[in-house]
Amino acid sequence: MDLTEKYTIKDLFDKVEDKTISELEGKELTFGGYTKNNRFSGTIGFLNINDGSCFLPLQIVYGPSDEACKAAKLGATVEVKGTLHVTPEAKQPFELHATSSTLVGDVDETYPLQKKKTSYEYLRSIPQWRMKTNTFNAVFRVRSTLAYYIHEYFHKKGFLWIHTPILTSNDCEGEGQTFDVYADVKKPTEFFNKENVHLTVSGQLHVEPFALTYGKVYTFGPTFRAEKSNTTRHAAEFWMVEPEFAWAHLSDLCDLEEDFLKYVVKKTREDCKQDMDFFAKWIDKDLPSRLDEFVEKPFKRVKYEEAIQILQDAVKNGHKFEVSDIKFGLDLGSEHERYLTEQVFKGPIFLTDYPKDIKAFYMKQNDDGRTVGAVDLLVPEIGELCGGSEREADYNKLLTRMQELKMNIPAYQWYLDLRKNGSIPHSGFGLGFERLVMLVTGMDNIRDTLPYPRCYKDMEF
Ligand code: 4AD
Ligand code: MG
Repeated sequence: MDLTEKYTIKDLFDKVEDKTISELEGKELTFGGYTKNNRFSGTIGFLNINDGSCFLPLQIVYGPSDEACKAAKLGATVEVKGTLHVTPEAKQPFELHATSSTLVGDVDETYPLQKKKTSYEYLRSIPQWRMKTNTFNAVFRVRSTLAYYIHEYFHKKGFLWIHTPILTSNDCEGEGQTFDVYADVKKPTEFFNKENVHLTVSGQLHVEPFALTYGKVYTFGPTFRAEKSNTTRHAAEFWMVEPEFAWAHLSDLCDLEEDFLKYVVKKTREDCKQDMDFFAKWIDKDLPSRLDEFVEKPFKRVKYEEAIQILQDAVKNGHKFEVSDIKFGLDLGSEHERYLTEQVFKGPIFLTDYPKDIKAFYMKQNDDGRTVGAVDLLVPEIGELCGGSEREADYNKLLTRMQELKMNIPAYQWYLDLRKNGSIPHSGFGLGFERLVMLVTGMDNIRDTLPYPRCYKDMEF
């Protein structure tokens, strides 16, 4: 085959957008893909195939002598050569009139996808197939595109991508929710000659030293938490984006976070138009307006203590929370977060300056002695999308806090010493990547944003 004639289905749709599709009128082209739909009336057949390049299929028109096309069942792969016809007045802007076809991969009774609607739950049990359904086909394309624009954003802004390790001996968040790693269960310390080795819960501690040299850095990779919570928002293996930048205080961090999120959401929507149209039509009718607001309206900034006041007032006015004893020090539950974002502020909020006792050891201690320069980004429907802070840059303050928390100081001396030698104020946050995919697609279970979800008591091969 002449390689210059190898178009994908996406190329054709792109040419419709560019208004150059007529250049291909009457051209002989070849496509391979899997069958989405096939109707044969006795005289004429319509076969829709998807080659993976975009959401929408290619319509192939074939005649009664085309045995391969006629035999193509749902999921079967075919290769079809034909002539392209531009059909501006029809539902699909072009079609391929088959001249020669091959049934490349037939299907048998083990093919698990059928025309009728299947539950997400069932599809989770067949992750090797579910990306052939419309919903998951669109989800994983959006996921990939979001990742691309995340890298693009940081690259354009001069951030270096640092590959922080997956194996580590520290517990960044200090929650003890780590998966332990050893080569031999009988000799757990032997391989690395270390007491504790586990899968990372966050790349932050490893990326901070790079921020103190390069100024602007980020890490983006898989993270692992042995959280025994079976919710629609928690996975045991998820991806996190963690920018860290020097000379930045809490308000600079919020500015970056907001600019970054709006950029990636806006670009992905533009790039994945076919997929986004599908989500708006079939998954969540309010998605377009919600995302319009997300990219257009400024995120409000609210202090934790103000939020506590608002929640206390809500209780006084008769609002029922499951946890209604609301006072300074409460670790807000998702019912409180949702009330704030959905009922009060009606949009994303940056909640800042939390009590130090409910936040991690590394956060900058405020002058009031009881709060830290932390910021969580809370979003309607999703809850916590990002968590971050300004970092404590003062050696003695950090050491004192770590002693209060009875941390193993020698194990973190390398990190503490960064504050002794050329310390710089710096800040960073972590974005739960799957929660961003949920936000953009309207999918409401984290399991449906991961190619192979790993969740509490829930993992397929
Ligand atoms: O708030 P977290 O725990 O913050 C950190 O790990 C910091 N070290 C990040 C930093 O400052 N560099 O986690 C960050 C985000 C959360 O806001 C949430 O979106 C996501 O990671 N996340 C999870 N996503 C899916 N499943 C889980 N079990 C998650 N735990 C946290
Ligand atoms: Mg958090």
